[in-house]
Amino acid sequence: MNEGFSIESSSPRKTKNIGRKLASLIEPPFDILLKGELGAGKTEFVRGFLSYWGHKIVRSPSFTVVNSFETPKYTVHHIDLFRIRDTEEILVRGILDLLLENDSIRFIEWPELVQDFISPEKSMMLEIEILGTRRRALHFRCMDKKLLKDLKVLIHYEIE
Ligand SMILES: Nc1ncnc2c1ncn2[C@@H]1O[C@H](COP(=O)(O)OP(=O)(O)OP(=O)(O)O)[C@@H](O)[C@H]1O
Ligand SMILES: [Mg+2]
Repeated sequence: MNEGFSIESSSPRKTKNIGRKLASLIEPPFDILLKGELGAGKTEFVRGFLSYWGHKIVRSPSFTVVNSFETPKYTVHHIDLFRIRDTEEILVRGILDLLLENDSIRFIEWPELVQDFISPEKSMMLEIEILGTRRRALHFRCMDKKLLKDLKVLIHYEIE
């Protein structure tokens, strides 16, 4: 059974800070499915995660589909499937290969097409809901109760 928790963010910086917390907690292989409408803050969250590893410039993969980043511990693939039409295109573009890697972490925006290929135990879903101009609700769901608990503790420990 998936467990979860929700937290509010009142600025892009806070959303990034929450993404940054996750970086100290997960190990590959792991997928983060990012849901929420256009402009919700999915890419901002990934920017926060990658800032933990010193990446300052993180462009949206809307056009490139996949942007990959190296960290001292693993590769991070930031994938945006908004413009992908079907599972055949997923295969042809080599995205399925990335999802099968044992040594990478994947962030997937608009993940509906690949949801069947994601390990339920080694993944997390984050849905970002727009509540106002700068207000967002972040809904986390995951099977790993310890990971959820640790993330919640880290977020509450130092939320500026
Ligand atoms: N609390 C917040 N958290 C995240 N982003 C916020 C927040 N408040 C305002 N924003 C703004 O909302 C926008 C979020 O853009 P972002 O590219 O992260 O969205 P996205 O969900 O990745 O959209 P897309 O589906 O188009 O890729 C940014 O311009 C950001 O500054
Ligand atoms: Mg995006």
